[in-house]
Amino acid sequence: MSQTFTDDKSTAELTIPVASADACCAEETSCTEPSVVLSTKPVPSNLDKHVYIETFGCQMNKSDSEHMFGLLEEIGYAATDDLKIADLMILNTCAIRGGAEDKVYSYLGHWRKITRDRPDTLIAVGGCVAQDEGENLFERSPAVDIVFGTHNLHRLPDLVLQARNTGKRVVEIIQELPEDLPETPVIRMNDTTAWVSIIYGCDYNCTYCIVPYVRGREKSRSPESIAREMEELAASGYKEVTLLGQNVTAYGHDLDPQIHLGDLIRQVGGISGIKRIRFLTGHPRDLNPEIIDAVAEVDSACEYFHLPIQAGDDRTLRRMARGYKVDFYKRIVDQIRTRIPDAAITSDIIAGFPGETEEEFLNSVRLVEEIGFDACNTAAYSPRNHTPSANWPDQIPHEVKQERLRFLNMAVSESSHKCNQKLLNTVQELLVEGRSTRNPERLTGRTRTNKLVNFAGDEKLIGQLVNVKIQSANPWALRGELA
Ligand code: SAH
Ligand code: SF4
Ligand code: F3S
Repeated sequence: MSQTFTDDKSTAELTIPVASADACCAEETSCTEPSVVLSTKPVPSNLDKHVYIETFGCQMNKSDSEHMFGLLEEIGYAATDDLKIADLMILNTCAIRGGAEDKVYSYLGHWRKITRDRPDTLIAVGGCVAQDEGENLFERSPAVDIVFGTHNLHRLPDLVLQARNTGKRVVEIIQELPEDLPETPVIRMNDTTAWVSIIYGCDYNCTYCIVPYVRGREKSRSPESIAREMEELAASGYKEVTLLGQNVTAYGHDLDPQIHLGDLIRQVGGISGIKRIRFLTGHPRDLNPEIIDAVAEVDSACEYFHLPIQAGDDRTLRRMARGYKVDFYKRIVDQIRTRIPDAAITSDIIAGFPGETEEEFLNSVRLVEEIGFDACNTAAYSPRNHTPSANWPDQIPHEVKQERLRFLNMAVSESSHKCNQKLLNTVQELLVEGRSTRNPERLTGRTRTNKLVNFAGDEKLIGQLVNVKIQSANPWALRGELA
């Protein structure tokens, strides 16, 4: 079940791992479909304008887009997935790899063409590329009217009104989140499962990664505010919540009093109606035994750990500045499996980090086999602005990175297949997400371990928890029948 990044020109970024053909719209790298999925909720009648948002990148960005929809509704914009009727078009951008950034400029070129005869249509760019590039975006793309960053989403309505009222370009990038995190309205694109951000930013400085630069320092939301949001979600019928952060396992260290993710899981785990809680993405160094205990003991906490290792080789890990060795990671995996034997463990791995020798790369491949990951996001290393490794002299040639990536993907696929086959003939609880895109006769849902399962069933089951007996498995998905 690997979500694969085909190369450093990949077109999609970090997603919930465990993609399948059925999830490809949101999660395949090669997917060219707009990521806009509109909510089925009725649109208030006082909205006289339309906003289209194209979202690249991780769940954090997708969640941010839902907040943009919420904020813009307050000034009269209804969400649309039709570019032709949009009065405001927003690109919510990702900078994690070169390919993601290149895509921004190709979209802007296209948008420029299609808005040529629509002088009143505004184009805004937000997200991680905007945070990094700021007003340079105006030079690179003359069609852009508004640029805003990752720390000032709440200002979007004002910026839009300013651009509308003055007819001038507007840019606002701030370097830190406001001291008191604003609670912004949200229009969620999924009626069953919801994202809730619990910590923003990242205090690590991995030598390849642009995230700390574009997302700033770690800042945790208060547990009270998170619990309030989750209670509202439960009241609206949501059954699943994914707690989001770039480094979610560091949650709470900056709060007074200090708490950790395990405390939060215990605190919100009992909210009636929320049957499943997940968290993404954790840094292995911060995954303490108390977090594992909380997942083991709180019924709603899903047996699923996404723990990016990045490389299976100690010298590479040191040069990446990850702060752990392979043995440390393996010990964590042992702790998880001892405490929660059925837990799924997924990861991220980079192929072709500067200076990575063939043998060091093969250590990553061996590690995939040894750990037996349920899935991995894999990517060829992409040199990024503001990151030290981008300037190192020992860059790996493009073809070699691609070759390593292909080889790594084969190992990941084999490992996923083995994990999935272990589920044959078991009965799994699924949260039904919708119709399968491949075969509309079938429904699709996820296990607690985040695996996609397709099965035949009535549409009425969408949004419900059902039990399904697993009948077949491939590396990407499972098939079953209602038990
Ligand atoms: N905070 C998470 C990762 C968030 S970024 C962690 O530390 O584990 C998402 C993923 O993008 C990373 O796990 C990494 O595998 C990948 N990534 C980040 N920078 C990259 C780069 N320069 N080239 C290729 N992949 C990269
Ligand atoms: Fe990037 Fe490292 Fe922070 Fe993850 S922990 S977001 S890889 S700097
Ligand atoms: Fe991309 Fe920004 Fe997320 S760089 S992966 S959208 S935090």
